[in-house]
Amino acid sequence: EKGLYPHYMLKEIDEQPSVMRKIISTYTAENGSVAIDEHLVEKIAKSDRIYVVACGTSWHAGLVGKKMIEELANIPVEVHLASEIGYDMPLLSERPFFIFISQSGETADSRQVLVKVNELNLPSLTITNVKGSTLSREAENTLLLHAGPEIAVASTKAYTSQIAVMLYLAKAIGDYKNLKLAKSFDIAHELGLVASAMDTLVSEKDKLAEISRDYLLTTRNAFYIGRGLDYAVSLEGALKLKEISYIQTEGFAAGELKHGTIALIEKDTPVLAIITGEDTASHTRGNVKEVESRGAKTMVIAMEGLQKEGDQIIIPELHALLTPLATVVPLQLISYFACLQRDLDVDKPRNLAKSVTVE
Ligand code: F6R
Repeated sequence: EKGLYPHYMLKEIDEQPSVMRKIISTYTAENGSVAIDEHLVEKIAKSDRIYVVACGTSWHAGLVGKKMIEELANIPVEVHLASEIGYDMPLLSERPFFIFISQSGETADSRQVLVKVNELNLPSLTITNVKGSTLSREAENTLLLHAGPEIAVASTKAYTSQIAVMLYLAKAIGDYKNLKLAKSFDIAHELGLVASAMDTLVSEKDKLAEISRDYLLTTRNAFYIGRGLDYAVSLEGALKLKEISYIQTEGFAAGELKHGTIALIEKDTPVLAIITGEDTASHTRGNVKEVESRGAKTMVIAMEGLQKEGDQIIIPELHALLTPLATVVPLQLISYFACLQRDLDVDKPRNLAKSVTVE
């Protein structure tokens, strides 16, 4: 099933441009509007606060989805770890709506929250890759990722498709509420640009393998930094690297480094910075300088227009909300190569299972 590919993870990374195109065709109706059931959209539009519940990579996708929903649909969003919120419910708003994000639809930590949400008779939606999965059956509504089976333990195409589907949902709610920002947002066009950017990024494997060898081959730890959505992607990039290469990697809000973590920077500690935010670029550049002056070996992923000489990876210019869909791709590939170069099991890292069915 992985055909000519040596590993599922590599195949699944490469599939991302076509998965984006599949999502565009599935979620765009013929008249150009969003193809999501209007009853569902109406229900969410009437909610005064959305609670996103997920684990791991799906939680990271939720952090990006929050920004999209708040900006396009104008509803406040809280993103919660399933293993926390289940035992420690926050004070809920008057009309809460719960969104569960789960590739497998079988994650026990998420399910125990859904059971409680159902007991409270609160409305819910599961965004999942698996039709008929437990979380899909038990939630009131389901949206599918249409990413095709994800076999590798490290989640890649599920992350990008979760973000794309949440973008469609955000756009649908914003359209329903007649919000200007949503109405003027040409989602099929913008996501089409993402798919093309992904095509370019997945073709840069040789360069990324070299970067990985240069920065990560012998290191014991690494830091990923960014601000805003770049911070959200730092968390995901760090998880991807640690789970398959076993390099201790932390994702950090760039501005937080100086509040403690910078003490860990030594000569040649790898620090990777993601820079796609116009308002935050110069601040993150400053953080790069700070760690460099303490000996860190820095690497920058920057978006076209914000790049500087010496930056290692350039992301084609995209809508500000959509940059995570592109910046994550080189991070996935760097993790893949770091794992390969250490001669580790790419698709089945130690101690991990594809779906975690215990709390
Ligand atoms: C990381 C990874 C895990 C999952 C998490 C949630 O690459 O795969 O962190 O994202 O276990 O799984 P789902 O999305 O199936 O609920």
